[in-house]
Amino acid sequence: MLSNNSKIEKVFMKPSKQEILNAYLFRHACKEFDKTKKIPDEDFQFILETARLSPSSFGFEPWKFIVIQDAALREELRGVTWGAPKTLPTASHYIAVLARKKQDMLSDSNYIQSMMRDTHKLPEETRQQRTKKYANFLQNDFKLLESDQAIFDWASKQTYIALGNMMTAAAQIGIDSCPIEGFNRGAVDHILDSKGLLENGRFGVSYMAAFGYRVNEPRQKTRQPLDAIVKYY
Ligand SMILES: Cc1cc2nc3c(=O)[nH]c(=O)nc-3n(C[C@H](O)[C@H](O)[C@H](O)COP(=O)(O)O)c2cc1C
Repeated sequence: MLSNNSKIEKVFMKPSKQEILNAYLFRHACKEFDKTKKIPDEDFQFILETARLSPSSFGFEPWKFIVIQDAALREELRGVTWGAPKTLPTASHYIAVLARKKQDMLSDSNYIQSMMRDTHKLPEETRQQRTKKYANFLQNDFKLLESDQAIFDWASKQTYIALGNMMTAAAQIGIDSCPIEGFNRGAVDHILDSKGLLENGRFGVSYMAAFGYRVNEPRQKTRQPLDAIVKYY
């Protein structure tokens, strides 16, 4: 796994634009996977690594990735997940991606302070300045303290950056995926909480996603033309 930034420039071979676009064309919302094919551990680790390296606002990484391989738990989730009737039982790997809730996202929370101290390794003074800046951002810039939902949704938005990266990275190595929001959120939270996976309400489910190998060829892609969605000014 790549871990040393300084070495990357030397070894990085730029893929062509067409090669990159081919991965985007290969990726589709795969509805059913080949149950007999398992993603090698190394490949799934690679997909998770692209999630880990994803950017997040202030670098606070407000997420957790739960890999659900237990058939009984998948079956339980299937009961409340209308968007994955065939993907849940057939996916090689299935994840529930969690976002942190208000108690962890406040500027003076143990989580935020430990991110700045232990992960970002900020000097004391910088940490104090960043804490003030972040508090102001929450309170005034983005008005995220007006409801518990607002700050959770903001954390949740960031988990979708990791989703995009994981799906594209998977496609680049020939692995199919499906993002899943077709579920009752309260019911999924309840199931995950009953297994202790939400860490006493610190987390809520953001989305789920399935990975594996397709059994059917995808339909033709449907997208609006670029000039319908882009405006230059
Ligand atoms: C956030 C998100 C949630 C989605 N939820 C589901 C889902 O629950 N079930 C499903 O089959 N597809 C789901 N999709 C897939 C979309 O329907 C699909 O991406 C879209 O129709 C475009 O098709 P394509 O991905 O095959 O190009 C979801 C996509 C996104 C981005």
